Amino acid sequence: MANDFLFDPDSNALDRLDYRPPEYLIDETDLHFDLHETETRVKSKLTVRRNPDAPEGGPLMLNGEDLKLVSVKLDGKDLDRGDFEVTDKHLIIKRPPEQPFTLEIENEINPKENTMLSGLYIPEQEEIFCTQCEAQGFRRITYYLDRPDVLSTFHVTVEADKEKYPLLMSNGNGDPTKTTDLGNGRHEISWDDPHKKPAYLFALVAGDLPYIEDKFVTRSGREVELRIFAPEGYEDKIDWAMESIKKSMKWDEDTYDREYDLDVFHIVATTSFNAGAMENKGLNIFNISLLAGDAETATDDRLIAIEAVIGHEYFHNWSGDRVTLRDWFELTLKEGLTVLRDRQFTADMHSQAIKDIEDATDLKARQFIEDAGPTAHPIRPDHVAEFDNIYTGTIYEKGSHVLGMMRTLLGTETWREAMNEYFDRFDGQAVTCDDFVDVMQEVSGLDLSHFRKWYSQAGTPELSYSGEYDAASKTYRLTLEQETKPTSEQAEKEALYMPISVGLIGQDGKDIPLSLKGDTEAGPTTRVLHLKKDKQVFEFTNVEGPVVPSILRGFSAPVKVMTKASEDELVFRMKHDSDGYNRFDAAQEYMAKVVLDMAKDIEAGKEAKAPAKLLNAVGHVLSTDAKSGDKAFVAKMLELPSYSILVQSLEVVNPDALLDAADKLKEQILDAHQGDLATIYQATITPPGDKYEVTPKQVGRRALHNLTLDYLAADKSDEAAKIAKLQYDQATNMTERLGALTALSELDKPETQAALDNFYDRYKSNTNIVDSWLGVQARMDGGDGLERVKKLTEHEAFSWKVPNKVRSLVGAFAAGNPRHFHRKDGEGYKFLADAVIKLNTINPRVGAGLVKPLLEFKRYDKDRQELMLEQLDRVKATPKLDKGIRELVDKALATRDGATKKGNEPKPSGGTLAA
Ligand code: BES
Ligand code: ZN
Repeated sequence: MANDFLFDPDSNALDRLDYRPPEYLIDETDLHFDLHETETRVKSKLTVRRNPDAPEGGPLMLNGEDLKLVSVKLDGKDLDRGDFEVTDKHLIIKRPPEQPFTLEIENEINPKENTMLSGLYIPEQEEIFCTQCEAQGFRRITYYLDRPDVLSTFHVTVEADKEKYPLLMSNGNGDPTKTTDLGNGRHEISWDDPHKKPAYLFALVAGDLPYIEDKFVTRSGREVELRIFAPEGYEDKIDWAMESIKKSMKWDEDTYDREYDLDVFHIVATTSFNAGAMENKGLNIFNISLLAGDAETATDDRLIAIEAVIGHEYFHNWSGDRVTLRDWFELTLKEGLTVLRDRQFTADMHSQAIKDIEDATDLKARQFIEDAGPTAHPIRPDHVAEFDNIYTGTIYEKGSHVLGMMRTLLGTETWREAMNEYFDRFDGQAVTCDDFVDVMQEVSGLDLSHFRKWYSQAGTPELSYSGEYDAASKTYRLTLEQETKPTSEQAEKEALYMPISVGLIGQDGKDIPLSLKGDTEAGPTTRVLHLKKDKQVFEFTNVEGPVVPSILRGFSAPVKVMTKASEDELVFRMKHDSDGYNRFDAAQEYMAKVVLDMAKDIEAGKEAKAPAKLLNAVGHVLSTDAKSGDKAFVAKMLELPSYSILVQSLEVVNPDALLDAADKLKEQILDAHQGDLATIYQATITPPGDKYEVTPKQVGRRALHNLTLDYLAADKSDEAAKIAKLQYDQATNMTERLGALTALSELDKPETQAALDNFYDRYKSNTNIVDSWLGVQARMDGGDGLERVKKLTEHEAFSWKVPNKVRSLVGAFAAGNPRHFHRKDGEGYKFLADAVIKLNTINPRVGAGLVKPLLEFKRYDKDRQELMLEQLDRVKATPKLDKGIRELVDKALATRDGATKKGNEPKPSGGTLAA
C-alpha cells in the first residue's frame, strides 16, 4: 500500500529502502480519555491534511490494533459505512477530501486486560493507568498514523474517578493537582504539549501516587518543576533519583549546550514495565527497578545504573524528542547517540577508566555474541519483521561505540560544535543516520564516506597486529590487519575505517613518546592510528630499544583483538600498561587463556593447574596495587572473564568443564594468596560510623570487599561461610548484604538457606529486592538448579504477568546459569521453551527477550544442539505465535544445517619483550 510503508499484507518483513513519506499529516491531535478499568473511551479529533511532499493522495490508512471502533466523523459528519473500512490492523478512510479536514474518532479499549503492557494498561497489583507507546503501542490506544515521521501538537484531556485517580497526567505543561471537578465523582484535567512530537512519545498516567518535588533553574533562567511519582512505599527511596535528574540537566547544559524546554519534568515509576524506562516528552515512565533505591535497598551498581538511566531518558529530550527519527530502521540515531551521551555522563560522574572497562566488557559479553549468531544485524538494519526486536546490543551499544569513534575522529571540540549544528538544523524534524553523518562531515571537513559502512555492515571486525623492531634504524614497524567474518545474512565484508589507539611500552615499563615516520617532533605517548584497509603498516621512528605494543587503548573501536600476546607480555602489560582499559584487558586475556587451558585438561581427565606465572601476576596486583592503588580498578583486575566471554573462543562449548575450570582457577588463586586476600578483605570493611556515599573511593572499597569475599569462599569451607554470614549480618548497606548473600549462595552450607530465608523476610515488601533474591537463586550452581527455579515460579513472589519477575528468575536462569540450563537431558531447554510459549499469550515482547539463549545452539555439542533445536521447533509450532518471537526463531532455524562455526586460530604478536 502506497501511503503506509508499515503496511505489508503479504509478508511479515519490512525493508528500510521501501520508505515513503506519509501521504497525510496530522497537525493537531486532540485526545479525550474517559478512563474506566475495562472500558476506556478514547475520543480523538485530528486535523489532517495531505503531505505536499508525498505523491498523489490515496486512501487514509490509520493504524489500529485491538480497538473497538465506536464512530468516525469527517468534518463533523458521520461517515457512511461505504466510506470507510475497518480491518484488524487499520481504519481506512477511502476517499478523504483534498483540502485539510478534521477526523473525529471514538473507540474503546480495555486497559485491565492489556497484559502485553503496550498501549494503555493497568499494571498487575497497582491501581494506576499508564502507557507505553514505543515502538508501535499508540495504535493500541486509538487509530492514528503511528509512525515517527508524523509529528503533531497534542492536547490531551483526561477524565477519571476522582477518588481512585486523584492525579491525572500527560505530556507537556500542566499541574496534576489542579483538576476540574465534574460533580459526578469524576474529575478532569487538560495537558498541552507545545512541542510537536510523534505518537510514540505520547504518555498518560492516572492514579493515587505519592511523589516528591524539587526545582531546577536552567542556565537561561527557566524554572522547572521536578516531580517523581512512585508506587506507595517507595516515596522515601527516590531522593537519589531526584538528585540524578538535576545532575543530568546540568550536565547536558555544560557538555552539549542542551537546555530543558518545558515548565515541568515528571517521572512516574511502575512495577510492571516491558523496558527499563521510556523518554515520553516531559513525562518519563520508569520501571521501578531503575528508579527507587538508597543505600539500604540498592547496591552501588544499581544506584549508578539508576543515575545513568535517568540521564539517558532525560538526554533523549533532545536526542530523540526534539530531533526524532524518520522510521524505526533508524533507531540507533536516537538510541546509539543517547547511550553515548549517558556513557559520557556516567564517566564524568564517576570514573572514566572503570566505565571504559565496563562498557567494553558488556559489549563483548552481549553484542559480540549477537554479531556472531543468527540474529546478527548492522546498527542500521535493512530488514525487520517486528520492530520490538531491534532494541538490541547492536543498535544500542555498538551504535554508541560507532558514534564514539566519530567523536574520536572529530575531536572533542569539533564534536560539540557538530552536535550543536545537528540539534539546531533538525529541531522539530524526523531524520536519519545519514543526515547525522552529513552534519558531522560538513562541520569537521572530514571525509566520512568510508566510515559510513559501519552503519550497514554487521559482524565484529577482527583486528590483528604484529610488530618488528629494527635496532639499527631505531624503527618499530607495526602492522595492523582487519577482517570481518561473514554473518548470517551478509556474506561479503569490506574493510572499515577505524581509529586504533596505541602506545608502545619500553622495557622500563614506561610509555615512549611516539613519532610516526615524517613527524618533525615526538608526539604524545598514545596515538590514534587510522586503519582503513585490510592491512596497513605504521612506522615509528626514534624508538630506543625493544617495546611491547599496547593496542586498542581505551577500547577505541568495537573490535575483537585476535592476536594472542605471549604470557610474558601479558604479565608485563598487567603491571605496566598506562592505559587502564588495556591493563585490565591483559589480565582478562591471560585469565581467559588459563581457564580455557584448564578446561581442556579437565575434559582430558588431567589435573588442571594454573601456571605459576599467572598466580604471581595476580599476587603482584594483590600486593602492590591493592594497597596503593585504586580499589575499584583492582577489583576489576581480579575479576575472572565471564562465561559469555569465554564461550566465544571455543568451537564447541562444554559448559561443565568451563565452569569447573573457572572454579578451580579461583580456588588456586585463593590457595596461593589466602593471606593477602584475607588482609585486603579486612582492610576494606566499612569503618564504623562511615557515612554511605556513592563516591569512587567508597564504591571501590565495597567492590573489592565483595570480590575478596568471593575468592575467600572459593574453597567452600565452613570458615568462609562464617565470614560471609558475618558480613551478611553486619552489613549496613545493600552492596555488602547482597555481596554476602551471593557468596553464601555459592556455598552449600546451613548458612545459605538461612540467609536466603532471612533476606526474603526482611525485604519482601520491596519488589526490587525480591527480584535480586530471585536472581541469586536462579544463578545458584549447587544442588538441583532447575528444580529450585521451577519451584520458585510457584512462589508468592513470582508472577508471569510482571516482566521484572520473569526476567529475574527465568531470564537469569537461562542466561546466567549455564550449568543447569545446559543440562544434558535437555530439561533446562524445555523449561525455557515452556516459558516462552506461556508468554506468547501473556506478553510476547518478554517472551521474545527470553528465547535468545536457545538461539545459540551452534556453540554446543551435537546432542545439545538437537535438544535445543527440538525446543525451537516446539516454539515455532505454537498456535498464534507472535511475529516477534517467530522472527527470532526462524532466523535461528534457518542456520540449522549450515556449516559449524570455525574457531579462530591465534596469531603470534609482534611484541619483543618475550623474544
Ligand atoms: N526508548 C527506550 C525505551 C524503549 C525500549 C521503549 C524498547 C520501547 C521499546 C529507552 O530510551 C531506553 O533505551 N531504555 C533502556 C535503558 C537505557 C538506559 C539504555 C531500557 O529500557 O532498557
Ligand atoms: Zn533510549
